[in-house]
Amino acid sequence: MTHPLEELREAALAEISAAPNEQTLEAARVRYLGRNGSISAWSERMKSLSKEEKPIVGKLLNQARSAVTAALEETQEKLRAAKEARALAELDISLPGTPNEIGSLHPLTQMLDRGIAIFRRMGFALAEGPDVEDEWHCFDALNTPPDHPARAEQDTFYLPDNRLLRTHTSTVQIRTMEAAPPPIRVIAPGAAFRRDEVDATHSAQFHQIEGLYVDKRVSVADLKGTLEFFLRELFGPETGVRFRPHYFPFTEPSFEIDVKSKTLKSGEAWIEVCGCGMVHPAVFEEVNRARGDAAYDPEKWTGFAFGLGMDRLAMILFDIPDIRLFAQNDLRFLRQFA
Ligand code: DAH
Repeated sequence: MTHPLEELREAALAEISAAPNEQTLEAARVRYLGRNGSISAWSERMKSLSKEEKPIVGKLLNQARSAVTAALEETQEKLRAAKEARALAELDISLPGTPNEIGSLHPLTQMLDRGIAIFRRMGFALAEGPDVEDEWHCFDALNTPPDHPARAEQDTFYLPDNRLLRTHTSTVQIRTMEAAPPPIRVIAPGAAFRRDEVDATHSAQFHQIEGLYVDKRVSVADLKGTLEFFLRELFGPETGVRFRPHYFPFTEPSFEIDVKSKTLKSGEAWIEVCGCGMVHPAVFEEVNRARGDAAYDPEKWTGFAFGLGMDRLAMILFDIPDIRLFAQNDLRFLRQFA
């Protein structure tokens, strides 16, 4: 004769193994093993059983509980595997995937990186300053008088509070000297802004690498050697480099540098790429005034400075006919530099 607990166990096992989904399985678990489940009810009943019956029922109860628990786990695993198999069957692994579009650096970024790498080999450190500047850093400290045409509103973007967008990166010369005593050997790559009429060679935003070297007995020979080396690294050893006397308020003497190279589209024509010169003593004096010391005593220290037009260099090097291409975000243009 079978005990009712055994019948209960067999009924539970049959029901569990036939469960079609996870919900019915869970309902079966609750019905048999839940707090008010029929197997649990037998535990309650144990108390009222006779001494002889207790061990028999106890044993059957344990068997029932572990058999049902094992069946629940087994069926749950079976249902999960079936669900996974169904999901996989719907998946078409022959479909092409979503391609990863690989971008590339903007030609101006590539140009700046190349320029920076050459100066770093010569021991220049990187310096930086803000795009939004005050008049003092942009003009006064650079020995540029109030009536200088560069300061006029038609040339410079002024903000309502009298600050401005820096018209050149030479501001970083001042910021660097304010922050540290000589010797100084830095470059400052960055953007500059002017209210130029926009055309193929003029843009309201353009890019420069500023350079400043201050030490004992720095001479025009150092300036010339440094920039000739830079330009020949960039355009090839046969590049012609010409220094033309020029005027900048913050250097004396001042030069503009032209290059020509047969490897370039421009061929035999000289192209202006850089302004430079020996730091004007008035600039050192103004920095001293701001620092409140005499760290940049013009009797002890000399220096050279330069500002390279990086858009211009990129246009020459990559043979780009129009500066506006840099900012138009035209992929047909940009992909040529990938
Ligand atoms: N700041 C000048 C410009 O934007 C370029 C320049 C000239 C920078 C001479 C210098 C320099 O550091 O010494 O036209």
